Amino acid sequence: MTNIYEKLLLAPLTDIVCSLPVLSRNRRKVVPGAEGLILEPGIGSGLNLQYYDPQRVRQVIGVDPSGDLVRLARKRAQEVPFPVEILERSAEELPIEDASVDTVVLTFTGCSIPDVTKALSEFRRVLKPGGRLLFCEHGRSHEHRVARFQDLANPVWRSLAGGCHLNRDIESLLRQAGFGLERCDRFYAMARPRFISYMYVGSAIPR
Ligand SMILES: C[S@@+](CC[C@H](N)C(=O)[O-])C[C@H]1O[C@@H](n2cnc3c(N)ncnc32)[C@H](O)[C@@H]1O
Repeated sequence: MTNIYEKLLLAPLTDIVCSLPVLSRNRRKVVPGAEGLILEPGIGSGLNLQYYDPQRVRQVIGVDPSGDLVRLARKRAQEVPFPVEILERSAEELPIEDASVDTVVLTFTGCSIPDVTKALSEFRRVLKPGGRLLFCEHGRSHEHRVARFQDLANPVWRSLAGGCHLNRDIESLLRQAGFGLERCDRFYAMARPRFISYMYVGSAIPR
């Protein structure tokens, strides 16, 4: 049953959920700021491609292990006026040179990467000095009661939502991986349900 769900439904459902206006509204706060050579780990179905500023983009390299989502992203890549290369693989190990990327764009993906600590250190490795990691992520609430519920619900949520964690403290994970925070706005994207709507939106630079 889980297999059928993952094989047939997970990718289209991910595309539909990630297209919700409440998410688009927030991804648009960071994506247009990306420039130069851009790495987008967990590019998914390519929903961010429409929000890049073509004047500022040299190339986007997307990375995602889901073949079904990569297929959708490759279709969307044909509709933008800049080059897009998509690698079907995990972001924990990247075939990308040290200090070669201008911007890493991470939207709704830090929750899903199994070894997020390793992936963040890869992002730091490939970023140029002075490069930026732009993020728009959901994660652990600052409110104790909500965070407690996130911890309790996490195992069930993960199995239904393609490995998505509810309770990752994105700001702490970035700091631990050697990033300094230029900006990190934290807020609930919706009044209800709070456990899924606590957001971290901002930019980080390698320290
Ligand atoms: C909720 S979706 C978000 C997709 C896209 N970033 C967006 O904003 O619409 C999470 C994405 O993380 C991807 N993902 C999961 N594990 C990953 C890994 N190890 N490396 C890179 N991406 C991964 C999934 O395949 C999925 O595309």
